[in-house]
Amino acid sequence: MSDEAIERAKEHFAKILEEQLERVERMKKGEELTDYSSLEPIIIGIVGGDGIGPFIAKEAQRILAFLLEEEKASGKIEFRVIEGLTIEKRAEVNKAIPDDVLEEIKKCHVILKGPTTTPRRGDPWPNIESANVAMRKELDLFANVRPVRIPKEEIDWMFFRENTEGAYVLGSCGIEVTEDLAVDFKVITSQGSERIIRAAFEYAEKNGINRVTIVTKANVVKTTDGKFLKIGQKIAEEYPEIECDDWYIDIMTAKLIDPKRRKQFRVMVLPNLYGDILTDEAAEMQGGVGTAGSANIGKGYSMFEAIHGSAPRMVKEGRAQFADPCSMIRAAAMLLRHIGYEERAKRLEMALDICGQFEKKLVITGRPGGATGAEIANYVMETIQQPDLEERWQKFHAEA
Ligand code: IPM
Ligand code: MG
Repeated sequence: MSDEAIERAKEHFAKILEEQLERVERMKKGEELTDYSSLEPIIIGIVGGDGIGPFIAKEAQRILAFLLEEEKASGKIEFRVIEGLTIEKRAEVNKAIPDDVLEEIKKCHVILKGPTTTPRRGDPWPNIESANVAMRKELDLFANVRPVRIPKEEIDWMFFRENTEGAYVLGSCGIEVTEDLAVDFKVITSQGSERIIRAAFEYAEKNGINRVTIVTKANVVKTTDGKFLKIGQKIAEEYPEIECDDWYIDIMTAKLIDPKRRKQFRVMVLPNLYGDILTDEAAEMQGGVGTAGSANIGKGYSMFEAIHGSAPRMVKEGRAQFADPCSMIRAAAMLLRHIGYEERAKRLEMALDICGQFEKKLVITGRPGGATGAEIANYVMETIQQPDLEERWQKFHAEA
């Protein structure tokens, strides 16, 4: 019995290794970087997702349509709503992303995506792979870029979460060798590490930031995290003007809540799972995970989304309209910047700061009594239109 189980596991492992080596070859070849300035139209796909996803995605789309009104009218920008990335449909076809949905997504240049429900064992759904994870892999969106800013506390963090490997890439490909033995796999490649770490250093250099922090657990997870750290330290040598330090994920989670130390961190680069965990912690300090957006950047495609899940409980309890759309609106700002509308992205972010962190005329609680997502989106749009937006934002900062 155990010989047979081991043989079966070996075969499984061999197949995984073949696939991963093929992926390495694809990474080595590289892909062309999309030049948005030469595209006409730039096609923005809107994928609502499920749970609160369609509710908050709709508000972010409304703001994008408002900010890109002229470009939409002139044909420079096209919006395309893509239906069908729901848990019901995914369960029906037993796939993380239904083929027809993926095909539509691939016809767009950038995607704004609402959260999607991730099944787990015991759910009424088949235990299929997360749609997020599948999309990141399918479109090779290797950099998950997550900003967290709390101006009042001088916190300005940018997380570069590796997005296509680590504990996630084979998260649905583990093996139950016997009834008692379960094995999962974690993968780190040179190419995968290099591209995310370089993206972090390039970001720091471009923005005049003099510190990049590499976060791993290389003292324990020696082979994969050890590789990530080693590559990080080597790349750091190419950027002598940027200080590079390394921390372990456990003490890093502690230091993020140390008011004296935390503001010293600026750019953090980390393998997938650590990035997942640390960014939820960071977002919570900013006002909740509902306030944080993220960019999933690849060379060809890019996808912008909230950092949180689909909150099916809010829908079940009839509270979906009270969900905070700010995560998706922040993601929309990152999308705008990515396709070349820096000025509008900045104004949108300033409006979000004013509405959510300074002025707070409306407060979202996630429940009746609090503002609705639509009211928040209207408030943000009114704020963007104020001619003295930038002065007000600077004043709030100075007083903070
Ligand atoms: C995130 C989310 C996803 C992840 C889930 C929904 C699969 O938590 O984007 O951080 O773990 O990456
Ligand atoms: Mg997460």
